[in-house]
Formats: sequence, structure tokens, C-alpha cells
Amino acid sequence: MNKSKAGLALGAVAAVGAIASWQAPAGEAAKHDYWPGREKVIPHVSGDRRFSGTYDNWKDEASIRAAKAKGLMSHEMNFKDFRWLEKSFDAWPVLEEGKEYFNQPNAAGKSCASCHGPDGEKLKGVYANLPRFNARLGKVVVGPTQIRACAKDYLGIDGWKENTRPNSVLDMYVAHLSDGRKVDVDVISPGPLKEAYERGKNLYFKRTGQFHFACASCHTPPTVGNYLRGQRPSTFFGDAAHYPIYHFPYTLPGDDLAHVFTLQHQIRSCQMLSRMSQGTEGSRSMVDIEVFLKASANGYPMSIPTQEYNMSTDYLKR
Ligand code: HEC
Ligand code: HEC
Repeated sequence: MNKSKAGLALGAVAAVGAIASWQAPAGEAAKHDYWPGREKVIPHVSGDRRFSGTYDNWKDEASIRAAKAKGLMSHEMNFKDFRWLEKSFDAWPVLEEGKEYFNQPNAAGKSCASCHGPDGEKLKGVYANLPRFNARLGKVVVGPTQIRACAKDYLGIDGWKENTRPNSVLDMYVAHLSDGRKVDVDVISPGPLKEAYERGKNLYFKRTGQFHFACASCHTPPTVGNYLRGQRPSTFFGDAAHYPIYHFPYTLPGDDLAHVFTLQHQIRSCQMLSRMSQGTEGSRSMVDIEVFLKASANGYPMSIPTQEYNMSTDYLKR
């Protein structure tokens, strides 16, 4: 689809948006149920080759530098030129804050550090393997849920739930301890993670909501790289390697101006903007989508902290 056709399609969608709830005409439901492409997906970042055709421009640092030297634009590097390659200066105070929470003693003098080492040294690398099946809780958990559970069950702190400032800031802090580690979420071996991945993939390609969009409607070609509400969506391969991300100036309710977008926040934000119903952070379907996204970054090194927006807006020009 070229840009003017994409514009027309969006116009049509806006018109449909006026109708309270949109339903596929009878007999059409099956045809429109899933956005195409699900069967081509593999749980590795190189799976992008089957979708966008830009992977060779961003598959590693040298490729990004070469692409930049050739004058390619950010969307031709899946935005990895800044969201992945450049560290965020503004996020450093957030990491400092996370470190304070991490070492902050409760009434009994215990902190996260009591079990996970000073400054979390025993948690190095673990974020690259999250989400993970937690046998104690009997379910697959994302970083924010694990942090909430540890705070509540091991430290008696009730308030560090998903989507609170301490939780999001700690999530970025813990993720930062895995900076440079290759994402590795095993969704090939049979078990709860694989099942979560398969469900998440289905959710990602399933059309839903008032606009009848799937996540994939925007995050796979032909929409990828084209303008949409003044932005260009990325392909879903590799994105999870730079989450949580510093997302100034945006916040979500509950985020408390920390400007940290955990992957759960980002999923909710897209659901909201594309008029799907928003999931509850840490719920099964939200975890499933995160497993799908994270496994789609398998093999790509984590880069934390980076920033959602480039200081230079040149990348928006073309
Ligand atoms: C009393 C010891 C204890 C304390 C205190 C504690 N944890 Fe944990 N943590 C654990 C155990 C045990 C696990 C294994 C999973 C479980 O039990 O839920 C774990 C798992 C984790 C994991 C996942 C590790 C992995 O390999 O997947 C993270 C991340 C984590 N904790 C962060 C924190 C943070 C942040 C805090 C402070 C809010 C904290 N923990 C406090 C014992 C503790
Ligand atoms: C209407 C189009 C649209 C739909 C539908 C949509 N998104 Fe997005 N998404 C965007 C745009 C636009 C951005 C921000 C621009 C960008 O990625 O560069 C974005 C950003 C993201 C990012 C962050 C990318 C990055 O590099 O930081 C993730 C992850 C994401 N979306 C996941 C999802 C998920 C999961 C769904 C389904 C629940 C979804 N999106 C549905 C348009 C959409």
C-alpha cells in the first residue's frame, strides 16, 4: 500500500470509529479474523527477514553504523539507530532511583539486596530470560509481576504493584542489569512458556476492537515504516530488547511521571490508541503478548536504558 492509500484506509477507519461497535458482516468473520502472516513468524529476531526486508540494516551494531553512513532513515533501521544503539542520558536518574528502592531496607532491615546481592549483582542477565515460568506462583510472569510478588511476599511491601512508580523504576533497574545480554526466552521446548507464546502470537494477529485492527495490522508491512498518527510503527522483531524504555514526555495513569514504559505499559498504550480494550497489566493475555514480543527479540542483545524519541526529529521528515 502506498502512502495515499494508507491515508485513505485510515480515513475509512476514522469513519468506522464513529459507530459504537463494529462487527464483520455475516460470513466475512472468518476471513477477517486474523491479519495475514501468522504462519511466517519464528521466535527469533532474524524472523524479520520474512517481513520487513530491513533486518540487514539493523541486525547488529556494525550494520546500523553502515546504514547510517549510507544516509538511511530510522524507519529503515527499525528505529534501532537510536532506540537501541544510543543510550538514554535522561534515564540515568531513573536508574539511580531504582537502585535506591532496591537497597531500601524495610522495617525488619531487609531489602531486595538481602537476597539478590548488593546492587542486584545476582540478578545480572536474568531479565534477558524474562518472562519466565515461576513454579512458586504457578504461572508465567513478567518483570513487574515478579517484582510485585517479591516485594509483597518476601518484604511485606504492599504498594509496589504493577504500574506504580517504584515497580516501573525497579523494572528498568533490574532490566539494566542485563544490558548487553542476548534475549533468550525458550518457547520451543514444550511447556507453559511455549503455550503462552502461541496464545500471544494469536492475540497479536487477531483483529479486535472498534477499528477491527490487530497489533499486526500496524506492525507488519505494508503499514510498517509508513506514517500513522504522525509516527511510523516498527516491526515487532527486536523491539522487546530495549524495554522498559524511557518515554518522556508521555506517562500513563499510575506511572506517576516516572516516564518509564515497561513493555506492559507499551502494549496497553497501543491498545488504547487503536481503540481495543486495554488489558490489565500482568494478566494472562497481557503476559502472553509480552512473551510473544520478547521471544521475537531472541538473539538480539538487550539495550537498557534507551529512549523512545530521538532528540533530533530528522527521522520524521521523510
Ligand atoms: C527473601 C528473599 C527475596 C527478597 C527480599 C526478594 N526476592 Fe526476588 N526472588 C527471590 C526468590 C526466591 C526468587 C525466585 C522466584 C520466586 O520465589 O518468586 C526471586 C526472583 C526474582 C526475580 C526473577 C529472577 C529470575 O531468575 O527469573 C527478580 C527480577 C527479583 N526476584 C527481583 C526482586 C526485587 C526487585 C526485590 C525487591 C523488591 C526482590 N526480588 C526481593 C527471593 C527474594
Ligand atoms: C493503529 C496502529 C497500531 C496498532 C493497531 C498497534 N500499534 Fe503498536 N505502535 C504503533 C505506533 C504508531 C507506535 C509508535 C511508533 C513506533 O513504533 O515507532 C507503536 C509502538 C509499539 C511498540 C514500541 C516499539 C518500539 O520500538 O519502542 C510496541 C512494543 C507495540 N507498539 C506493540 C503493539 C501491540 C502489542 C499491539 C496490539 C495490542 C499494537 N502495538 C497495536 C501503532 C500501532
